[in-house]
Amino acid sequence: MGVRRSLQRAKSAARSWTALAACLATLVACDSRVREIRSTLSDADLLRFDRGQKLSAPCWACHDFYGTQNKVGPHLTGIYGRPAGSASFPGYSAAMRGSGIVWGRSSLDRYLASPQGLVPGTNMVAPGISGAADRDALLFYMELVTRPSSN
Ligand code: HEC
Repeated sequence: MGVRRSLQRAKSAARSWTALAACLATLVACDSRVREIRSTLSDADLLRFDRGQKLSAPCWACHDFYGTQNKVGPHLTGIYGRPAGSASFPGYSAAMRGSGIVWGRSSLDRYLASPQGLVPGTNMVAPGISGAADRDALLFYMELVTRPSSN
């Protein structure tokens, strides 16, 4: 009765707090897009996605992953399949514009491992990510969130 109902309310409040806390722990956007993507993933992929989201936190300082805002760096919406240096962003280096790269999984992996190694002269000031599993998780997250939405 009264007691049971308030118990249920307390339980469902606890559940939404847990979801919110999981979001806040990543320190980055936790909006409907991310919630929608997470709802389609298996438990194993969720771990990978959340690990990637956490690793993306420093990137967000300079990049918008699924909007069209330019920050210190270009927005990354649609980055898979996008020619390097081709967003409408005034701050590209000549090195990036002239690199001839079309971004895909393996070029992104190499760029994240060593920005200067893949594009000597790039003006992206960010350390490489040395762990292959970290890059794998970040690329998994990126591939899902940067996909241009169909609506
Ligand atoms: C301090 C700011 C900064 C940080 C942090 C940063 N970037 Fe960048 N990023 C840039 C800039 C500036 C460019 C343009 C580089 C150029 O033109 O040489 C760039 C370029 C890129 C590109 C190529 C974009 C294109 O349109 O060709 C990708 C992909 C990218 N960054 C991903 C990342 C990821 C993933 C992270 C986090 C691991 C990250 N960046 C961290 C500033 C940053």
